[in-house]
Amino acid sequence: MEIPVNGETEVYGIIGYPVKHSKSPQFQTAAFLSLKINAIYLPFEVKPENLETAVNGIKALSIKGTNITVPHKEEVVKYLDEISEEVRYIGACNTIKNIDGYLKGYNTDAYGFIEGLKEILSEPYSKRFLIIGAGGASRAVLYGLIREGVQKIIVANRTVERIHEIIKDFKTLNRFVDQIIQPVSLDHIEEKLGEVDVIVNTTSVGLKDEDPPLFNYSKIKKDHIVIDIIYKKTKLLQKAEEKGCVYQDGLPMLLYQGARAFEIWTGQKAPVEVMRKILEEK
Ligand code: ATR
Repeated sequence: MEIPVNGETEVYGIIGYPVKHSKSPQFQTAAFLSLKINAIYLPFEVKPENLETAVNGIKALSIKGTNITVPHKEEVVKYLDEISEEVRYIGACNTIKNIDGYLKGYNTDAYGFIEGLKEILSEPYSKRFLIIGAGGASRAVLYGLIREGVQKIIVANRTVERIHEIIKDFKTLNRFVDQIIQPVSLDHIEEKLGEVDVIVNTTSVGLKDEDPPLFNYSKIKKDHIVIDIIYKKTKLLQKAEEKGCVYQDGLPMLLYQGARAFEIWTGQKAPVEVMRKILEEK
């Protein structure tokens, strides 16, 4: 077997804590191999107290690019030399490109979500959305939807104040944001279901099978499109399937955020189907 590593091999990786569960090393390495790019992609488990040192290490070791995952996405921003517009609005970075020792941060989650959405919906801007959650993932989804020109988004969160913060922060993105985003508390979701076409869970609720549901999922109607950005068939998605809804898990978002990161690093079109196959093999 030919060893695909030599003195010129470029190093990429993912920084997270924990990082063992990440699929990125497999699908990014498959992408490099498929395009015959001399590069490898490794997991780097970095404790929060070592994040600054690790980011400096990207420069010191000439690591070409990294993804950043939980719990570092927000914290890492302050250690970068430049951030993209997405990072500025979303407040989180999931991709770093090292340009000769100058680190630029990107957020490809919004792109990932929208590309995934377009697999099941050709004209997102004409639909009405219910987004559950108001954390970093929700900000990425909301940024993407507002950029797509979506006109009505009900955002439901346990802590309603966080939704108001998003509206304030997005004012310069779209000056009508306070008319587009309607905040509600979690306990009012059910009465809003009749006003929306697409339901998206951006919270971590559902990751564990024993998590109590966010609302009574029996209230979902057949014509709702249901998306959970968690990468598994959650109870929410099980109910959507039972009702005959079009639904989607977190795989497409994961795939396209990675594809976009690959394109930022290499300047080449990502081999999306190669990458998808790896994710689907799980
Ligand atoms: P991420 O970056 O993954 O979005 P985050 O910024 O910590 O993570 O946000 C987590 C989101 O999940 C928030 O909307 C949070 O609600 P609060 O803002 O009220 O904290 C939501 N969330 C987490 N656990 C929850 C629970 N048990 N019930 C309801 N919402 C929950």
